[in-house]
Amino acid sequence: MPSTFPIQPRRATYFHVTVNGFVRSVRKQKRVAFAALGDGSSLEPLQVVLSPEQAEGLSTGTAVRISGQWSQSPGKKQSHELHAEEVALLGEHDAQSYPLQKKYHTPEFLRTIPHLRPRIPQNALLLRLRSQVIASLTSFFGEHDFVQTHPPIITSSDCEGAGEVFTVESAPDSSVTKATGEQVLLNDHFFRSPKYLTVSSQLHLEALAQSVGKVWTLSPTFRAEKSDTPRHLSEFYMLEAEICFTDNLESVMTLVENMLRHTAGVLQMSKIGEEILEARSDEHSKEEQDGTASAQDLHTRWSGMASASWPRLSYEDAIDLLQKAVTSGRSFEFEPKYGSALQAEHEKFLASHVGQGKPIFITDYPRDIKAFYMAPSDSVQRQRSDGETVACFDLLVPDLCELAGGSLREHRISQLLEAMKRQGLVAPDLDGQISNLQWYLDLRRYGSVPHGGFGLGFDRLLSYLSGIPNVRDVVTFPRWYGRCDC
Ligand code: 4AD
Ligand code: MG
Repeated sequence: MPSTFPIQPRRATYFHVTVNGFVRSVRKQKRVAFAALGDGSSLEPLQVVLSPEQAEGLSTGTAVRISGQWSQSPGKKQSHELHAEEVALLGEHDAQSYPLQKKYHTPEFLRTIPHLRPRIPQNALLLRLRSQVIASLTSFFGEHDFVQTHPPIITSSDCEGAGEVFTVESAPDSSVTKATGEQVLLNDHFFRSPKYLTVSSQLHLEALAQSVGKVWTLSPTFRAEKSDTPRHLSEFYMLEAEICFTDNLESVMTLVENMLRHTAGVLQMSKIGEEILEARSDEHSKEEQDGTASAQDLHTRWSGMASASWPRLSYEDAIDLLQKAVTSGRSFEFEPKYGSALQAEHEKFLASHVGQGKPIFITDYPRDIKAFYMAPSDSVQRQRSDGETVACFDLLVPDLCELAGGSLREHRISQLLEAMKRQGLVAPDLDGQISNLQWYLDLRRYGSVPHGGFGLGFDRLLSYLSGIPNVRDVVTFPRWYGRCDC
């Protein structure tokens, strides 16, 4: 029977606890020593009070297990502290050569030690942010009846047609063992013809969407681009989704908007969000943060992303706006011209002037500057007399520029073949004889259906949400042109 009187827990002034972690710093005094301990679960260290003898052998980076009394702290920085009774060093630690100390390290230096960098509390926070954002996206897609899929990493086609592929080959002189036991040297391609690391899962997702309607994936993506910018990596994660039975670009943009609004909303309400803001408002490290966004900037970014109705404007209107800006004295390195790709400087201008803190969609780009698979724009007004446009969008955010791109896909086989010919993907006289995209044409041959989708640079999203300006610093082991450490 439930008691009619609430049972009061006995108030204890201390508990006996055991903690595992790494020493962030140690302060040794004559009679007492203080160690700041961390285990990656929080930015805040746990204060341990030790005797000088117990603190022997402790230095920044040491792995320890400490047992003792969890007591109220007389100090101002923490409410409680651990009074050590037993201290165990758990493994080797060469304090002399350990490169991470309790001081500021530049991002450039930290990129040279990607295997140790995650131990810095701020980097541990980025790992937890990544995990939380994946969880929030997974729940968003689950709630909207999308099926998560695993498209292949090794592919036979260059989805974007930009020639920025890495080729996959076996090691030279490798051999295979036949069923007869005979060893055969592989002088030719391992897969009989050249294969590549995927530059986008889109084409495979299109195949899977024809099975279950709505699919998504968060997959490793590879681009052999030589772009040395804070936004480009050679290996990154792309979040992609594909939906069947839609002939409406607006619905694809609304999906992106709802998805990111959900993610930003979860972040705003989370402990990780709180910690990021706390870290960014730390006065001491402000001037040292190399362009890291301030807490106020992040607040603006998150609430912009969490807000409704992001501006949508056509490429044509965007060019008009840019040209008007030039007329009123704004200078760009590249002249904004109808028919040319938007440069990062143009995207930055548009995102900050049009968006006012919200992300913006630029739609209906000229066909000639976009990939072969895009369907024509649906609205007659959007078809310029001097060039057709396609039903596509880029999502731009201030500072970072392009975060995502999507489109309706050309689902009519003859128009798709025409587009492939125009972009040199198939010889004009060999209709249907294109070997590595033959399977893609099958998707239009059998049960073809209007559909669309998008791809979002996942590491760019984390860079934007965390305020870390270089995408190389939000990825654990970054790879870019000329660099692949560890
Ligand atoms: O705009 P992209 O090239 O679009 C596609 O690949 C489509 N096939 C996606 C689709 O519709 N399923 O790439 C999508 C996004 C970009 O907007 C950008 O955020 C990111 O991927 N991205 C990169 N991120 C980091 N490093 C790079 N080198 C990137 N290239 C693209
Ligand atoms: Mg793009």
